Amino acid sequence: MRYEDNQKHWDRRWTEAGQDADGFSDLSIYPIKYAELVMDNPSHRSVDLGAGLGRVLKHYYHSGYNIVGLERSQIAVQQLQSEIPGSQIFAGDVRKLPFEDDQFDVISAFGLYHNLEDDQDQALAETGRILKRGGRFCISVHPDNFEMRVNEWYWRWKQRRDRKSGLKFHKWLVGKREFSQTLSRYRMHTQKVYFARNVSLLYRIPWLCSGSANETERRTRGYRLTSLAELWTGRSLH
Ligand SMILES: C[S@@+](CC[C@H](N)C(=O)[O-])C[C@H]1O[C@@H](n2cnc3c(N)ncnc32)[C@H](O)[C@@H]1O
Repeated sequence: MRYEDNQKHWDRRWTEAGQDADGFSDLSIYPIKYAELVMDNPSHRSVDLGAGLGRVLKHYYHSGYNIVGLERSQIAVQQLQSEIPGSQIFAGDVRKLPFEDDQFDVISAFGLYHNLEDDQDQALAETGRILKRGGRFCISVHPDNFEMRVNEWYWRWKQRRDRKSGLKFHKWLVGKREFSQTLSRYRMHTQKVYFARNVSLLYRIPWLCSGSANETERRTRGYRLTSLAELWTGRSLH
């Protein structure tokens, strides 16, 4: 739940972050680890929806993949257009995609669908429409579990002073079964579900974090915890 207009929220976030690195050097972290599951043929026509500052898009673009990106934040689109040819970047809304039917062999969308203010079904219908039959997709969403509910509670508390401005958009928490069922209504059949935990609540506790505190570096090198915290969680969080 956020008390800020969705587009303003992302424009602000991307202005603060500035630029993503051109690629990931560590392929074992979110989101690249999961993108790798579907991005296995450079000649496949691919699209990264809700590309943000392009950490996934740029990684594959610079590796010679046939990939384009779509993003709604003008700040992010302008930044990406200044870094790679404009023809690779489409400014637009996932709920009304500027692509023909059955265009793409591969679709990736990290952190997009839980970030919509409404019309999640319409966005998924559009996604299914542009995916070729037999094509593959990799989508990440916030799961509806205890950790993410606490995470949402934390944000609501942190933004308590903005409450009077009214609810502007909701960070949806998505149930696994419900989401898979919705996907299958739009021709997308889920094969595997992984729990990435890359946005663990533990990152809110500064003394449990290790590595760079710089958001841009964290976005492509991974959010790292101290070994003590990893011992506590019992597993790597990517
Ligand atoms: C959590 S960020 C993820 C960015 C990128 N996929 C990544 O992993 O770095 C969500 C992105 O979705 C974009 N977005 C939100 N609503 C959108 C919409 N209706 N159409 C297209 N993009 C949208 C936001 O502007 C933001 O860049």
